[in-house]
Amino acid sequence: MKILVVYDSIAGNTEKVAQAIGNALSGDIRVVRTGEVNPEALGGIDLLIVGSPTHGSRPTPEIKTFLGKIPEKGLQNIKVAAFDTRINSTFTRLFGHAASKIADNLKKKGGNLVIAAEGFIVEGSKGPLKAGELERAALWIKQISL
Ligand SMILES: Cc1cc2nc3c(=O)[nH]c(=O)nc-3n(C[C@H](O)[C@H](O)[C@H](O)COP(=O)(O)O)c2cc1C
Repeated sequence: MKILVVYDSIAGNTEKVAQAIGNALSGDIRVVRTGEVNPEALGGIDLLIVGSPTHGSRPTPEIKTFLGKIPEKGLQNIKVAAFDTRINSTFTRLFGHAASKIADNLKKKGGNLVIAAEGFIVEGSKGPLKAGELERAALWIKQISL
C-alpha cells in the first residue's frame, strides 16, 4: 500500500496532524509539505491524503496550487481523504472549512473518497492543538479500509 500525505502548515499544527496520520497507517508512507511535492509523486500511489489549515474558510493557496496541478481524472483508481485544522468558533463555522473543499476537489479529479472529511481543532491561530486531537486524527484515518 503506497500512501502519500500532503499538507501545508504555517504554525506547525497541521504538520503534527499529518505526521500523526502517517504514523497511524502502515505501508509505504510519505508525509510531505505541499511545496516539496509535484503531481508526478502521485504515480503508483493507492491513497492520497491532503490536509490544510483553514484560512478564510478555505485551504491555503499552496494547497490550492497543488490541487490545481493534478490533471483531470488524475486520481482515478486512487483512494483519497481530506482533513484540516480550524478554530472552534461559531462564526467561522458559518462559512465552512478547508477539508470539505479539498475533498470535493479530489473527487472531481476522479478520487474515491474513503472517509468523510474531518477537521482538527486548534486553540488559536498559532495553536496549540486541542488536547487529544492527534489521537483523534490517528483514530480517524484508521477507520478507512485499505
Ligand atoms: C489568515 C488566517 C485565516 C484563518 N481563517 C480561519 C477560518 O476561516 N476558519 C477557521 O476555523 N480558522 C481560521 N484560521 C485559523 C487556522 O485554521 C489556524 O491558524 C490553523 O489551523 C493553524 O494551522 P497551522 O499551525 O498548521 O498553520 C485562520 C488563520 C489565519 C492565520
